[in-house]
Amino acid sequence: MARRRQLYEGKAKVLFEGPEPGTLVQYFKDDATAGNGVKNGIITGKGVLNNRISEYLMLKLHDLNIPTHFIKRLNMREQLIREAEIIPLEVVIRNIAAGSIAKRLGIEEGTRLPRTIIEYYYKNDSLGDPMVSDEHISAFNWATPQELDDMNGMALRINDFLMGVFSSVGITLVDFKLEFGRLWEGDEMRIILADEISPDNCRLWDSKTNEKMDKDRFRRDMGKVEEAYQEVARRLGILTESN
Ligand code: C5P
Repeated sequence: MARRRQLYEGKAKVLFEGPEPGTLVQYFKDDATAGNGVKNGIITGKGVLNNRISEYLMLKLHDLNIPTHFIKRLNMREQLIREAEIIPLEVVIRNIAAGSIAKRLGIEEGTRLPRTIIEYYYKNDSLGDPMVSDEHISAFNWATPQELDDMNGMALRINDFLMGVFSSVGITLVDFKLEFGRLWEGDEMRIILADEISPDNCRLWDSKTNEKMDKDRFRRDMGKVEEAYQEVARRLGILTESN
């Protein structure tokens, strides 16, 4: 396949111009960063696995009538996506305390939260993605109240769905991060799920042992990072010997 024009290079992915107007090619790298770029490394085979895992989950979400940017997987590391205007927010959905909420509020990691909590972070690397409230979001016009409502509704539905998918293969969905975009169809605009859903942006714990099966293994130098990603893919039934 001819190399396409590169439009953007992020920490874990590259976006290329797509074959048709309104499409992009999303390339999954093996690069991993943590602590807003303080820690850098390679997780061998991660791009291939995340491409497959994200494809699998986005297709299932599509079946549930949750609109996503995913069109089709092109090859081991690339997928064709719809070009959306990315809303500059990271939407974090938490079921169990871990990571930053455990630290910030002094809650022991692993404590089930009284209910699912949604948080928003302003996507801005130089500021370290600060947490923001719905007041900031509407005052600075990052999203309208209606868009925020739509994102919340989709985030909760996605959470219900993902909890079920993972729980059926012995994995607890602790928390995860979503990104959304605006898709214009003529004068009509709708919010769609963008980015990816993978062990890079979900906390996934083995349901029996609570062993971590996600990027925290890289963030916290726990070892067996590739193996954990492979195990997630294997349990979801999407890993073949080709990796
Ligand atoms: O670090 P924190 O506890 O706030 O992360 C919550 C969830 O959001 C985790 O699943 C983490 O993987 C994800 N996340 C992410 N990208 C970020 C920050 C967090 O995918 N920039």
